[in-house]
Amino acid sequence: MKLLHLDSSALGTASVTRELSAAIVARWQDKLPRLEVEYRDLDTNPLPHLTGQSLAQSDPAEKADAARVLEQFLAADVLVIGAPMYNFSVPSTLKAWIDRIAVAGKTFRYTENGPEGLAKGKHLIIASGRGGLHTGAPTDFQEAYLRQVFGFLGVTDIDFVRAEGVAYSPQHRTDAIAAALASIPEPTRLAA
Ligand SMILES: Cc1cc2nc3c(=O)[nH]c(=O)nc-3n(C[C@H](O)[C@H](O)[C@H](O)COP(=O)(O)O)c2cc1C
Repeated sequence: MKLLHLDSSALGTASVTRELSAAIVARWQDKLPRLEVEYRDLDTNPLPHLTGQSLAQSDPAEKADAARVLEQFLAADVLVIGAPMYNFSVPSTLKAWIDRIAVAGKTFRYTENGPEGLAKGKHLIIASGRGGLHTGAPTDFQEAYLRQVFGFLGVTDIDFVRAEGVAYSPQHRTDAIAAALASIPEPTRLAA
């Protein structure tokens, strides 16, 4: 079984979502010793923004990296993505990665009955961090966006391991991280 682990926080060792995503992967590795884990830090190793030039695929290195990203996504059984809320949405580095995996004919297609996601059967765990409180509020364009875009690609088995309100006080942050760590889903849905 393959697990793809991504981080996108720009806050390095002070990051909440990096702590959560690492804990999720460690828990899964502990339970599933044969798990194959691949990792990409989208902050230190970002993909370029999707531009007219990149769509034309004129840069061989960029073309190869984009192909590798798509392959990694398609091959993964489990995805663990550190996705903080930045300016009500996701970091642009994560958006740049999503722009490379949303590929017509590969991960979605349009049929007579409407759009169909082609990346089915994956389990996605989002390590979510937010300074304020947004659950159920119209201000949430981060988790709602991720649920929409991954659902569009066929990934509907999604868990959110969420620490929110972390900017209120150090105690809020500590409590939110503890609650998030306690909510990590067990790797029971897929066999090793
Ligand atoms: C650039 C930036 C933008 C942010 N925008 C928001 C925001 O719109 N809403 C919010 O509630 N928190 C916001 N925050 C707070 C983060 O969501 C919070 O610190 C979270 O823990 C970030 O995850 P990280 O520590 O893994 O980077 C922002 C933080 C940064 C650095």
